[in-house]
Amino acid sequence: MSEAKLTIALAKGRLADETIKILEKAGVDCTALKEKSRKLVFLDEENGIRFIMVKPTDVPVYVDHGVADIGVAGKDTLLEADLSVYEMVDLDIAKCKISVAGYPKAKKKMTSSILRVATKYPNIAKKFYAEKGETIEIIKLNGSIELAPILGLSDVIVDIVESGRTLKENGLVVAEDIAFASARLIVNRVSLKTKSGIISPLIDQIKKVVKERG
Ligand code: PRP
Repeated sequence: MSEAKLTIALAKGRLADETIKILEKAGVDCTALKEKSRKLVFLDEENGIRFIMVKPTDVPVYVDHGVADIGVAGKDTLLEADLSVYEMVDLDIAKCKISVAGYPKAKKKMTSSILRVATKYPNIAKKFYAEKGETIEIIKLNGSIELAPILGLSDVIVDIVESGRTLKENGLVVAEDIAFASARLIVNRVSLKTKSGIISPLIDQIKKVVKERG
């Protein structure tokens, strides 16, 4: 694999297809990525690009450590990870909000003075409530966060809201918005300098594609 000039970390799952579309329009050959496969590393030998498919939350970690030069990650993931990668382009896809949600009017449980917040984003939640001067208890979950208030595990949740369907179908509503999020192209700080000959034109192409998509 040493022949790769550039390594790109992509998030497995819902972000992958949209990201591949943008990369292809920017001239990156993603043919190998589109094959149904359990492979985690793909090499475009002709252009010297290696792709790695990782969990969305791991994309910034790979890029921060320089194992990948470039990555595509959600702003929610970046805010939560708080690493020193360069955020170069807002890809304007996977747009969502990070919000506090719960039962209508049930912001705080009567029996508890401390708000219990279930979330996949403990750092975002802690920072949000710390800035408001509110003491909270974080309950870290890894998925299906909406279940927490339904089962009485938490008073509210901090989670991403995309279409709003999951909240609606579970009888929950947004109480407050914390931030807007979308997918970002991130670059390793060292790679941006040492591989600028490859990275800068690619970033320019990607910016052009995003602009054309409007
Ligand atoms: C995310 C998020 C919400 C849902 C929001 O979960 O945690 O549950 O999407 O999307 P919506 O507003 O369009 O309904 P995801 O699908 O990633 O699965 P998870 O619950 O396993 O984390």
